[in-house]
Amino acid sequence: MAVDVLEHPLAKQLVAELRDKLTPPEHYRRLCHKLTTLLVLEATTALGTTDRVVETPLESARCEVLIEGLAVVPILRAGLGMLDSVTELFDDVKVGYIGLERAHDTAIAHRYYCKLPDLAGRLVLCLDPMLATGGSASQAISFMKVSGAERVVMVCVIAAPEGVARLNADHPDVRIVTAALDRELDARKYILPGLGDFGDRLFGTF
Ligand code: PRP
Ligand code: URA
Repeated sequence: MAVDVLEHPLAKQLVAELRDKLTPPEHYRRLCHKLTTLLVLEATTALGTTDRVVETPLESARCEVLIEGLAVVPILRAGLGMLDSVTELFDDVKVGYIGLERAHDTAIAHRYYCKLPDLAGRLVLCLDPMLATGGSASQAISFMKVSGAERVVMVCVIAAPEGVARLNADHPDVRIVTAALDRELDARKYILPGLGDFGDRLFGTF
């Protein structure tokens, strides 16, 4: 199974607080923001740079600067909680949106919204905190590829083995970066031990 799990101690602390059923939505949003910053730093390590000479007050310094633009696509709704971390870190970023919702009985996601820019030539981050069956992420990445995406990184907070296996099979070219790899899915296709419904906890819609 190809998946990169963040090992930073701060990431572990933030995941523990997100899992806690007593964490209220206002704190949840801050935790999600902080954790996404750590995830995105890891997800963008392969961003292209070029050499540039910069004049410091003392002398010339050979520096590296970014040459590759970024695109980011949050999967609505829960992925919205991860978006600001990316746009705060990076200036050259295009944003697309894909709305997907799982049916309560089948856990199969259907698309209700899609607005994507041309994604060619950019590193594309797909944001969704929960990779459960992997159905939502797999669909979303297929839409991104139709819009030109060539290099995609899936960024999530918690991944289930089932979701990782599905994404590895459907999109073997896509790197997965997560803060936790959990045990399994339950009968309703929720992640165990997980943290419940991320969107509901983020937006206070219990
Ligand atoms: C959740 C989550 C993912 C999806 C993951 O969204 O935010 O998008 O489930 O499950 P999967 O890997 O089995 O597809 P949900 O459908 O509950 O919609 P919401 O974000 O609007 O709450
Ligand atoms: N979506 C969630 O929000 N939580 C899960 O455990 C699975 C899908």
